[in-house]
Amino acid sequence: MKILNTLLIGTVVGLAACTTDPNSPGLEYMPDMYRSPAIEAYVDYGQEPYEVGEEVARAQRNTPSSRKPVPGTIPFRGEDQLAFALPYAFAQTVDDYERAGLELTSPLLTNQANIEAGQKVYVAMCTQCHGTEGKGDGALSRNGHIAGIPSYADKLKELPEGKMYHTLTWGKGLMGSHASQLSQRQRWEVIEYIKVLQQGGEMPEFDEDGMPLPADASPEAKDEPKAPAAPASQVGMEGMADNTDF
Ligand code: HEC
Repeated sequence: MKILNTLLIGTVVGLAACTTDPNSPGLEYMPDMYRSPAIEAYVDYGQEPYEVGEEVARAQRNTPSSRKPVPGTIPFRGEDQLAFALPYAFAQTVDDYERAGLELTSPLLTNQANIEAGQKVYVAMCTQCHGTEGKGDGALSRNGHIAGIPSYADKLKELPEGKMYHTLTWGKGLMGSHASQLSQRQRWEVIEYIKVLQQGGEMPEFDEDGMPLPADASPEAKDEPKAPAAPASQVGMEGMADNTDF
């Protein structure tokens, strides 16, 4: 008799759980067992009133479980790019712009791969203002939207790479920050190409290791005795490869 009763109750409960909707789970006993309330990253629990009820959901809306990283957090982007995801040590001030010009040097080698990668970035992101040859005569300059873009080979000829990087990171005057569009590596790469434009835009010859051959051809001769501290010089660039301390 007892067994029959149990069976009967079991059948009634079992049947009550059935529905005709194939997508419905039916009557759920302890739904937490099916849908674990574990807190997941990037979920806005306020969008799930089923879990918590409308009132709690409203209070939770727009509060995803994962929070913004604290200031100074360094994103991990794999071995190669780790050095390029460090916080930038120079503030958006005139003083730090000057300091970047003196202290900040490229962690990249001036070689064919980096110059060519920089050229690609330049063509895609900079020519509309700076012009293909870097004379400040891009389309936006010619149609009058942005006036007074300086030429790399003229007014900016002696501009040190640290200042270039600072400008790309924070922006300067009418040029906005490019920090969100360009990774740190891309910023340094495009600077490698700007250094070519500073010398007139002629791509250097490279040896079989991709290192630029010394420019002893006639047009470069007059560039030799330029500012002694100009970091565009290739001398000592080997050591700079290890300089990721910025
Ligand atoms: C919207 C137009 C615009 C774009 C796009 C643009 N620039 Fe500029 N850039 C300017 C202007 C304007 C200046 C002059 C800023 C000043 O000195 O007030 C400038 C200045 C510079 C300077 C000199 C900064 C200094 O410290 O004096 C560098 C280097 C430079 N740009 C590089 C780039 C590179 C590289 C890109 C592409 C990734 C780029 N710019 C994209 C408008 C632009």
